[in-house]
Amino acid sequence: APAVIVAIDGPSGTGKSSTSKAVAAQLGLSYLDTGAQYRAITWWMVSNGIDVADPSAIAAAAEKPEIISGTDPSAPTITVDGTDVAGPIRTQEVTSKVSAVSAVPEVRARITELQRSLAASAAYGIVVEGRDIGTTVLPDADLKIFLTASPEARAARRSGELKGADVNATREALIKRDAADSSRKTSPLAKADDAVEVDTSDLTLQQVIECVVTLVEEKR
Ligand code: C5P
Repeated sequence: APAVIVAIDGPSGTGKSSTSKAVAAQLGLSYLDTGAQYRAITWWMVSNGIDVADPSAIAAAAEKPEIISGTDPSAPTITVDGTDVAGPIRTQEVTSKVSAVSAVPEVRARITELQRSLAASAAYGIVVEGRDIGTTVLPDADLKIFLTASPEARAARRSGELKGADVNATREALIKRDAADSSRKTSPLAKADDAVEVDTSDLTLQQVIECVVTLVEEKR
C-alpha cells in the first residue's frame, strides 16, 4: 500500500495527541507532534535570553537551534541541539510563550520545512498533528481531521493532565492561547475545507480513536 498521510488539527484539549499517537500505533504509521516542535524552538529562545515579545529577534534566531523529532508513536522524542527537551517544553513558561514565538513567519517557515521532510520520508505513512497541517503544511494529505470540543470538556481534560491545576485558570489560559493561534496572520489554527470535523466533547478517547481509524481505513 502507498504511504498514507493523515493530518489532525484542532485546538488544545481536544484529545489530538492521545488520538494521533494511538491511531499511528494501531496502523503502523509514524507520528509527528508539531506542537512539540514549536514548544522546542520556544524553549530554545527562552533559554538563550531572546525576548519573545520581539518578533525581529525571534526571526533572526529562527534557524539557529537544531530540532530533531523521533516519530515512533510508542516513544516519540524531541531534542534541541542534542538535548532531550521532552520535559522542559511542557512547563507553564513555555506554554505561555509558545503562541508568540509560533506566530513569527520565519519560525513557521523553518518548522514547516522540517515537517514536510519528515512526512515525505515516512515509509508507511504518518499521522501529523497540529494547528495548520491540513491547511498549510500538508494540503494534499489523504485524510484531514479537525477535532473540536466544548471549552468545558477541554479545560477538564487539561486540568486532569496537569493533576490538580485549577479548572477555571486552565480554561482561561486555553481560551487565550487558542484565540492567539486562531487570529495570527500566518497559517492560523483553522479547519481545512475538506477536513472531517469530529466533536469529541461527549466521546471517550477509545471512541475517537476508532472513528479516526475507520476513516483512515476507508482511504487506504
Ligand atoms: O499542541 P500544543 O498545545 O503542544 O501546541 C503548542 C503551541 O504550538 C500552540 O498553542 C501553537 O501556538 C503552536 N502550534 C502551531 N502550529 C502547529 C502546532 C502548534 O502554531 N501546527
